[in-house]
Amino acid sequence: MSSPVLPESLFRTLPARVTIYEVGPRDGLQNEQRMVPTADKIAMINGLSRTGLTHIEITSFVNPKWIPQLSDASDVARGIERREGVHYSCLVPNRRGMDAAVQAGMRDVAVFLSASETHNKKNVNKTIDETLAAFAEVVGPAREQGVRVRAYVSTVYGCPYEGAVDVARVEDLVHKLRALGVYQISLGDTIGVATPAQVDHVLRRLLAFCPQEELALHFHDTRGTALANILVGVALGITTVDSALGGLGGCPYAPGASGNAATEDVVYMLHGMGIDTGLNLDALVDISQRVAAWVGHELPSKFFKARLGERLRQGH
Ligand code: HMG
Ligand code: MG
Repeated sequence: MSSPVLPESLFRTLPARVTIYEVGPRDGLQNEQRMVPTADKIAMINGLSRTGLTHIEITSFVNPKWIPQLSDASDVARGIERREGVHYSCLVPNRRGMDAAVQAGMRDVAVFLSASETHNKKNVNKTIDETLAAFAEVVGPAREQGVRVRAYVSTVYGCPYEGAVDVARVEDLVHKLRALGVYQISLGDTIGVATPAQVDHVLRRLLAFCPQEELALHFHDTRGTALANILVGVALGITTVDSALGGLGGCPYAPGASGNAATEDVVYMLHGMGIDTGLNLDALVDISQRVAAWVGHELPSKFFKARLGERLRQGH
């Protein structure tokens, strides 16, 4: 019997390097029941900046009534060490948030909106058009001060209130956000519903007009598909991946949303495929161990659990 003719390897064009954009201190802690003390958040961020990370999202300058877990945003921003070569960023929903962030020393901010009206309204109390108008008051003035602005689009692959989301709505938002002048757009699978063929379809539509470096992958692992989805994005040449230490995370205004792709799991997968991230996995695990104690529950990261098991068996 002759052997079947296999298609060319999916992985023949993998990038040599991927940037991990760590969102644990922000996306990770915003969904925790327990309020982590400010000093512990600062220790977490300082620890993360010694693991090789170059991008860390540290907090959000939002209405503290909406996200009480991050109500100490200014103290966190003022309290951390600023390590050379590390970009420290934060979420800002409006001009008020941006001004407070800049006053606290932030030079990288991120605006956020959803591809579905209902999630947008629940999350920021505005329509999508009103939210874009609020961004116009943020992006121009931020750039005039030399502050870089990233944008998130949530519910790209599905909305907890509306279900399926038309990719044309995502395309439209990517066009509008680029026209506003953001440097990168992170595509959020807020409730972790995406599957690899859908990711391939959506990303190809966006890559038809948007350069790879202007897009980032942001997957929550609610249904176990985050790593597979990231692999599709990386194979398509996207080189920024958002993830959270230990797999913490979730949006409080998206029912059922759970943790981000775990930084340790993503880094393990990428390193195993010969893709450099510059990160030290054991240093990440050390921080996750401390964070698990602060949040008071086990962390979902599979690599984290496996490494702790190995350490136990080796007696250290
Ligand atoms: P609002 O209540 O409609 O705001 O909230 P408002 O403009 O009517 O003002 C009401 C009050 O909020 C006023 O104070 C404002 O000063 C204050 P009062 O007069 O009542 O004392 N306020 C602020 N305070 C502090 N900082 C600010 C600020 N702005 C107004 N920046 C608002 C509108 C957008 C502020 C609110 O809805 C909000 O804060 N939402 C935050 C929601 C959020 O953070 N969600 C989670 C992050 S998104 C996410 O996780 C998804 C992502 O990870 C990607 C993915 O996974 O898909 C990014
Ligand atoms: Mg998120």
